[in-house]
Amino acid sequence: MNLTKVLILLVSVLLIIQAIDAGKHKPKTKPKTKPKPKPKPKTTPKPITPAKITTTKPASPTSTKITTKLASSTSTKITTSAKITTSAKITTSAKITTSAKITTSAKITTSSTKPISTQSSTVLYPPENGQHPINLSKNNKCRSFTDEFKNSRIVEHYEYNRDPRSADWINTSGNRNSYTLANGQLLAHLIKPTKDQGRVNDPAGPYNKILGQGLTLNSTYKLHFGVAEIKMKVCGLGGVVSAFITMSDNGDEIDWEMVGKDVTHGQSNFFWNGLILYGVNGGVHSVPNGPIDTNFHTYTFDWQPDCITWKIDGQAVRTLWRKDTYKDGVYQFPSNPSYVQLGIWDGSGAPGTANWANGPIDWTKQPDKLTTIIESVSIKCDPNYNIIV
Ligand SMILES: *[C@@H]1O[C@H](CO)[C@@H](O)[C@H](O)[C@H]1NC(C)=O
Ligand SMILES: *[C@@H]1O[C@H](CO)[C@@H](O)[C@H](O)[C@H]1NC(C)=O
Ligand SMILES: *[C@@H]1O[C@H](CO)[C@@H](O)[C@H](O)[C@H]1NC(C)=O
Repeated sequence: MNLTKVLILLVSVLLIIQAIDAGKHKPKTKPKTKPKPKPKPKTTPKPITPAKITTTKPASPTSTKITTKLASSTSTKITTSAKITTSAKITTSAKITTSAKITTSAKITTSSTKPISTQSSTVLYPPENGQHPINLSKNNKCRSFTDEFKNSRIVEHYEYNRDPRSADWINTSGNRNSYTLANGQLLAHLIKPTKDQGRVNDPAGPYNKILGQGLTLNSTYKLHFGVAEIKMKVCGLGGVVSAFITMSDNGDEIDWEMVGKDVTHGQSNFFWNGLILYGVNGGVHSVPNGPIDTNFHTYTFDWQPDCITWKIDGQAVRTLWRKDTYKDGVYQFPSNPSYVQLGIWDGSGAPGTANWANGPIDWTKQPDKLTTIIESVSIKCDPNYNIIV
């Protein structure tokens, strides 16, 4: 070996060491998580019936794309593209009370240069056991209507006769005088607490122990795919959340949420099967044509078996494809018949929630009630998946 060769070798070794070192110091983008505030406590996941299921899924080459948007002013987008050839064997064994353990053995071949981060093989719910992954049965009774709040039929839960044709909404609020109907508008109120708000200056951030009580209206029936739309002018005070959502019995959820103070944005979100992933599925969208607290805007979900499109004033601002929600052996895409709910709630109840909602509200400086004004709501049931009543 001559000197030149030795030198080249030395330089190469140095370069390799440097490269390895640089790799170690690469900044890791860590998605920030935000607590997902709920208008109501979530129903606990239903226990899974003890069963022994062995399923072999056919290997289907798929392309997975995961897009994560954080519900915050700074948004991070993570895009992973990979070709996956899977032969998954799923074994669910008996005596399971609250969660199912799934053993998955998958062969992954990828053309991507970056390694695929290994995902947890333990999920809360088993995959779809060979059934058609979406419940496309047409036995959900649904009624299409537009409520302009002139002749609204809002009933108390105890007077509802279970015939969805007899009423439009069920008042499920926890307080008195939670709404007023006036001049073709529904005024959704958030009522000031009668007790002291109980401000806590927690190191994690301020919050209130006692919350204002707001309106929640449930539709009298479930929607199984279709279009739901609300036209409203929201309360612009930080800490106040105006919401228009769908919610299924098993915790599939599609959201529009407007938080006070940030009056130039609307937030979209979705959940699947009661699985709460904080700040994972949320999106923040600019609202054109004036602030959300001084102008009326229309917020829409167009919910179809293969995608959900969120719209503001008729313009699509986000589309979620079902094929892009495949995770842990299942499409984590809302697909069960769901109530449509609208309301207003106090987002001051925990440091994370208050921070997200631009609160907490200082009730000592507020009137007896805060109000979001709803001009109309329209629900159109997809006739392919609903029995129209
Ligand atoms: C499918 O949806 C219908 C309502 O449309 C419901 O009655 C039925 O129980 C659902 N089936 C499953 C397996 O979830
Ligand atoms: C709505 O429901 C709540 C709770 O049952 C009740 O106190 C209230 O009077 C109802 N109606 C209105 C207009 O808020
Ligand atoms: C209202 O919707 C929820 C889903 O969030 C459902 O569990 C509840 O039964 C509904 N209440 C009424 C009175 O329909």
